[in-house]
Amino acid sequence: MQSSPQFVGIDLGTTTTGLAWIRPDGNPEIVPNADGERLTPSVVYFDPHEDVKLVGVAARDSGDPDRTVQLIKRHMDDPEFTVSMDGRIWTPAEISAIILAKMRRDCSQIIGPIEDAVLTVPANFNELARKATLAAGRIAGLNVRRIVNEPTAAALYYAHAQKLRGRIMVYDLGGGTLDITILEVDDHGIRCLASEGAGRLGGSDFDERILELIADAYQSAHGVGLWENELERRRVLQSGEDLKKMLSKLRQASETVGSQRGGVARIELTREVFEAAVSRLFTRTILLVEQALASVRFSPQDIDHVALVGGGTRMPGVRRMLKDYFGTEPKTCGNVDECVALGAALFAMKGADVEEVCNHSYGTLALVEDAATGAETYANTIVIPKNTPIPCEQSQTYVTSEDNENLIEVEITQGEDSDPKYVDIIGRIALKVPPNRPAGCEVTVTYRYDENQRVKATVRDERSGKTTEVAISYEGAGVLSDSEVEARREAFDSLRIE
Ligand SMILES: Nc1ncnc2c1ncn2[C@@H]1O[C@H](COP(=O)(O)OP(=O)(O)OP(=O)(O)O)[C@@H](O)[C@H]1O
Ligand SMILES: [Mg+2]
Repeated sequence: MQSSPQFVGIDLGTTTTGLAWIRPDGNPEIVPNADGERLTPSVVYFDPHEDVKLVGVAARDSGDPDRTVQLIKRHMDDPEFTVSMDGRIWTPAEISAIILAKMRRDCSQIIGPIEDAVLTVPANFNELARKATLAAGRIAGLNVRRIVNEPTAAALYYAHAQKLRGRIMVYDLGGGTLDITILEVDDHGIRCLASEGAGRLGGSDFDERILELIADAYQSAHGVGLWENELERRRVLQSGEDLKKMLSKLRQASETVGSQRGGVARIELTREVFEAAVSRLFTRTILLVEQALASVRFSPQDIDHVALVGGGTRMPGVRRMLKDYFGTEPKTCGNVDECVALGAALFAMKGADVEEVCNHSYGTLALVEDAATGAETYANTIVIPKNTPIPCEQSQTYVTSEDNENLIEVEITQGEDSDPKYVDIIGRIALKVPPNRPAGCEVTVTYRYDENQRVKATVRDERSGKTTEVAISYEGAGVLSDSEVEARREAFDSLRIE
């Protein structure tokens, strides 16, 4: 047992969470939880009898879907999402904090006290989801030194363990998300060139497809549906996931399912039928690969290695598809679902050598004059384009449009489109300026994008020289203010989490 506080990496996954540390010999290692599991299912169960929250396999197998929360990571970007349990409202950050608190408490029994951590997030996580992840770490009692993108952490692991160098494409198919990232790795460090992601494309979508196959087979054999409520549906979904995993090893597999109405049935499925049923999902992943290549004007031949990350890449169909596309066998490691946590622990040591890019464009809404027609339209103007290396800072100057304007309002956007309809407004700035000035006064907005991919803006009124710093804040039932985060952090110490 070590006594000095440990610096760990934590992969807070949609389906599983892993924690790694750096052994005294310099190699990263997964630290198991107190139940002996290397990866902890990201599931929380609120027990109705004792005031205890279960996390992990016990929570997943609890058998009460009404009191079980899973896939919470999919809601980290939703300002309105909350979970109501026993008269208390839980935000996604707090649910995630319960998982992180279990990891911190369990693993510190093995490696000593844990205080500082690097947390990972999908590359395409937006501002709000990153903020919620930082809050989750803080509430769980961690000092989050940095959040790093999952593919970057994985690339760091591959560079360390397999000495991969050159242009690497990380193909990360996890439980809930797909991330495609192109990085340049040399002996000095890692540079991220481009990143594309789909927040709603992961292993659980494959499970939903297999669930349909099972349900259809059962319905045609027994003439009745396989489930009548959510608990029954989740049980079949679990069987479907087991079947999917078996089909990664075998060409044909079967699962026993049943309902009280139709009785027990053995469902046989071949890999061929499964692959045909999920072919659309496979195609969507390749479209994202093409998009990532196009964004840096690369052809498949420009990539030296494709590195597999995430449990979903165990599917032989994924490997075959990538081999066909790139003409070379993708690289894998024995622990595709652990390498993000292992890389995050390495990042704790090598953080300074990593350069990431911003994964969304940031801009402002302003009146824009069409040079040809003179017509004015309200449009999104991009200030920091997607894939700009970070940290970065960019300014843009606007002019006031009316005489006597004494309140300048700027809306900060996240998104690629020039049409305001298709971008998110993530913040509003209101700057008071002295009255009685003509139209045409200049206002400069400067965006700073820090290494955690959080955005800050300052607005400077050029005539008065007045500058205002604006931290982007969100509103919604699912968002915690900074003071609420602190209050929750204190309250968490007394929670029973197992
Ligand atoms: N042998 C296998 N064959 C097919 N799929 C598998 C296999 N093993 C694990 N998976 C799938 O991998 C997914 C979990 O992968 P992983 O643990 O990498 O995801 P995660 O990190 O929790 O999610 P995310 O990265 O999206 O947040 C699950 O959907 C699981 O069913
Ligand atoms: Mg993952």
